[in-house]
Amino acid sequence: MGFAYFWVLLILLGFCFQAKILNSQSLACNSNDLRALEGFLNGLESGIDGWGSNSSSDCCSWDGVICEPWQSLGVENSTLPSNRVVRLELGRRRLKGKLSESLASLDQLRILNISNNFIRGSLPIKLFHLQNLEVLDLSYNEIAGSIPVDANLPSIWFLDISENYFWGSIGAGICNNSTRIRVLNLSLNYFSGKFPAGFGNCSSLEHLSLNSNHLSGSLAEDLFWLQNLSRLNLGDNRLSGPLSMGIGNLSNLVQIDISLNAFSGFLPDVFLAFGKLQSLSAHSNNFTGCLPVSLLNSPTIYMLNLRNNSMDGPIDLNCSAMVRLTSLHLSSNQFHGPIPDNLPLCRELKTVNLARINFSSQIPESFKNFQTLSCLSLSNSSLHNISAALGILQQCRNLSTLVLTMNFYEEEMPSDLTLQFESLEVLIIANCKLTGLIPPWLSNSTKLQLLDLSWNHLSGTIPVRFGSLEFLFYLDLSNNSLSGEIPRSLTQLPSFIYRDILLKEPIADFPLFVRRNQIAMGLQYNKVWSFRPTLDLSYNMFTSIIWPEFGNLKQLHVLDLQMNNLSGPIPMLSGMRSLETLDLSHNSLSGTIPRSLVNLNFLSKFSVAYNHLSGSIPLEGQFQTFPSSSFEGNKGLCGEPSILAQVEPEATIPEPSIAPGPSSSSLPLKL
Ligand SMILES: *[C@@H]1O[C@H](CO)[C@@H](O)[C@H](O)[C@H]1NC(C)=O
Ligand SMILES: *[C@@H]1O[C@H](CO)[C@@H](O)[C@H](O)[C@H]1NC(C)=O
Ligand SMILES: *[C@@H]1O[C@H](CO)[C@@H](O)[C@H](O)[C@H]1NC(C)=O
Ligand SMILES: *[C@@H]1O[C@H](CO)[C@@H](O)[C@H](O)[C@H]1NC(C)=O
Ligand SMILES: *[C@@H]1O[C@H](CO)[C@@H](O)[C@H](O)[C@H]1NC(C)=O
Ligand SMILES: *[C@@H]1O[C@H](CO)[C@@H](O)[C@H](O)[C@H]1NC(C)=O
Ligand SMILES: *[C@@H]1O[C@H](CO)[C@@H](O)[C@H](O)[C@H]1NC(C)=O
Ligand SMILES: *[C@@H]1O[C@H](CO)[C@@H](O)[C@H](O)[C@H]1NC(C)=O
Ligand SMILES: *[C@@H]1O[C@H](CO)[C@@H](O)[C@H](O)[C@H]1NC(C)=O
Ligand SMILES: *[C@@H]1O[C@H](CO)[C@@H](O)[C@H](O)[C@H]1NC(C)=O
Ligand SMILES: *[C@@H]1O[C@H](CO)[C@@H](O)[C@H](O)[C@H]1NC(C)=O
Ligand SMILES: *[C@@H]1O[C@H](CO)[C@@H](O)[C@H](O)[C@H]1NC(C)=O
Repeated sequence: MGFAYFWVLLILLGFCFQAKILNSQSLACNSNDLRALEGFLNGLESGIDGWGSNSSSDCCSWDGVICEPWQSLGVENSTLPSNRVVRLELGRRRLKGKLSESLASLDQLRILNISNNFIRGSLPIKLFHLQNLEVLDLSYNEIAGSIPVDANLPSIWFLDISENYFWGSIGAGICNNSTRIRVLNLSLNYFSGKFPAGFGNCSSLEHLSLNSNHLSGSLAEDLFWLQNLSRLNLGDNRLSGPLSMGIGNLSNLVQIDISLNAFSGFLPDVFLAFGKLQSLSAHSNNFTGCLPVSLLNSPTIYMLNLRNNSMDGPIDLNCSAMVRLTSLHLSSNQFHGPIPDNLPLCRELKTVNLARINFSSQIPESFKNFQTLSCLSLSNSSLHNISAALGILQQCRNLSTLVLTMNFYEEEMPSDLTLQFESLEVLIIANCKLTGLIPPWLSNSTKLQLLDLSWNHLSGTIPVRFGSLEFLFYLDLSNNSLSGEIPRSLTQLPSFIYRDILLKEPIADFPLFVRRNQIAMGLQYNKVWSFRPTLDLSYNMFTSIIWPEFGNLKQLHVLDLQMNNLSGPIPMLSGMRSLETLDLSHNSLSGTIPRSLVNLNFLSKFSVAYNHLSGSIPLEGQFQTFPSSSFEGNKGLCGEPSILAQVEPEATIPEPSIAPGPSSSSLPLKL
């Protein structure tokens, strides 16, 4: 009897279900859900196309709202069948305004995605109690709040609240009840306090991102229970202590980032346990000791970044094992030399950063065969013999970025006409006190984009053929002993005029350090494409006039010609529409300041101090913002710049023997 009843019920249920599917179009959206969505909409400053009072009252037809038919069966107060909102897909719509509490009453919600908007306000606590919620993506908004201690999201598998204003403790308590969670991304918030125990209970976790918060303390050991963890990102916090051997338990790790913390002690020798590890970034910590043998034999690792630690010992890679290694960053450590000559045997190796390691050696002969090499930095590594170095490196046919700053002291720049660097895009050999000429062979490096030979003792003239380097957009020859005319051909550099050239970044993750000026002591690092088009010939002995054709350089941002012996008038220059810095100080320029300069809307640094200028100082446009120090030392100039604020002048005479740091433009330094 009971059995028969069961079958009847099942058939009836089947009918109901089918009927629901058939009717789903005609079902109205549930009135609770309608109210919840209207509440959400009311909180927004911007509307959502196709939503609201003028649209259909069937909220399930609104853009980004996905419903499913739903009926509460068997409950005594059975409601009418209706459509319930199960997904809200509103990512990347430029929505502005407050996050409404009412969203949390969408109790059938499985996916809530409002990522990449401008949504503010505090977090509705109840959102963390939605029993059916599987995916919650609030990333890239301006939401503030903390994760409730009693959070209960039993169905969740993807939770991303990165890049918001969340604060408080990191809330590993979410792992108590969310045992299915696979992706947890809390990065780029303001979480603080000690790294908590509790993540070990998120046993299905695959991606854990806590980077760029203010977490401190050492890692809780239960983190190392997470057998399925493949991405662990803890970078840019204040974590400390040694890295425990327990991490070797995480045999599925593919990516580890613990950079920019205060971890110390030895790197545990557990890398044989990682059968899938592709990338290890542990730069900018306080690790000591040798490179672990298991790491130097990893057949899977692709990117290894340990720069800026205190590690020592030799660099002894087993290239016949490290068959995937592509990118190697070991700079700023206390490793001892010589430069490992077996690197060319690592058959995928493209990027090598061994700067600021005291090698006291030459570039190994074997580098002649380094055909994969694309980016190399060895700045400040006590190298000698620049002729041999360039002779060897020119054989690396794929070399596109070469940084050799602060080496080869007082050697002579080779001008050997047989040198050829066909693939070169970035060349930085600054602060070496090199004598000799600007290498004429560089004119044949037709792909050159960025050239910095500043802070040397180079003499002679700039090769006229530099004017035909069609990709060159950053030229810094400042602080040398160059003389003669500034080649007129430089006013024809296409990148200074059009910049429609699509610069490709030679290789990601190879930042160049720059120092903005004397006062900002810190090093800033930048990607090549973020450098501003610059011509810096300051602190030399050029004697020409300033060519009127400079006025055509629409795309040039920085023009620094200070401390030369330039004469004649300042040309109109009104076409230099992108110019931000113009420094012509300490020359022998005469005539007046052309009034057309007031039309340079982006000009923020300007100096004509210490010349022989006369006439009146323009008072319009950006000239209202320049201090009087921009004009001093010109006997014939009259009128006062409109602000007389006592702006501290920047220290003008840099000290070449200390770290380079010229006047106003960016100086790529080392890497
Ligand atoms: C709604 O419709 C009325 C009349 O058609 C119109 O005046 C009003 O601007 C509309 N409101 C919105 C938000 O589109
Ligand atoms: C059913 O409805 C009545 C009156 O509307 C209400 O008092 C009662 O609490 C409801 N029961 C349930 C289980 O919702
Ligand atoms: C959320 O929406 C954005 C924009 O449509 C999309 O890129 C992102 O992958 C979505 N998030 C999830 C978890 O599906
Ligand atoms: C976890 O779930 C149980 C049962 O669903 C509930 O009683 C408990 O309060 C939840 N824990 C937290 C921390 O919310
Ligand atoms: C997780 O559960 C344990 C034991 O049930 C409890 O002691 C702890 O407070 C819970 N954590 C949170 C954050 O609720
Ligand atoms: C993990 O969850 C269990 C069961 O809820 C609990 O007893 C334990 O305290 C939790 N661990 C932590 C560190 O919260
Ligand atoms: C770990 O991943 C495997 C393979 O995907 C899966 O079978 C297993 O259930 C996962 N373990 C946990 C605890 O989720
Ligand atoms: C976490 O979020 C950040 C910022 O939104 C993103 O860059 C990162 O890739 C995410 N991490 C994971 C593991 O998805
Ligand atoms: C390694 O993982 C196992 C199983 O999850 C766990 O029992 C053990 O405690 C872990 N070892 C360490 C050192 O964390
Ligand atoms: C080097 O690491 C320290 C922390 O250990 C950090 O403060 C500093 O900014 C890092 N320097 C560079 C150039 O990355
Ligand atoms: C790094 O460690 C050394 C010795 O282990 C210590 O003297 C130094 O203060 C530490 N540096 C930082 C930034 O923690
Ligand atoms: C540039 O290359 C051409 C042939 O490709 C060669 O004849 C010429 O000498 C080279 N010029 C310099 C300055 O190296």
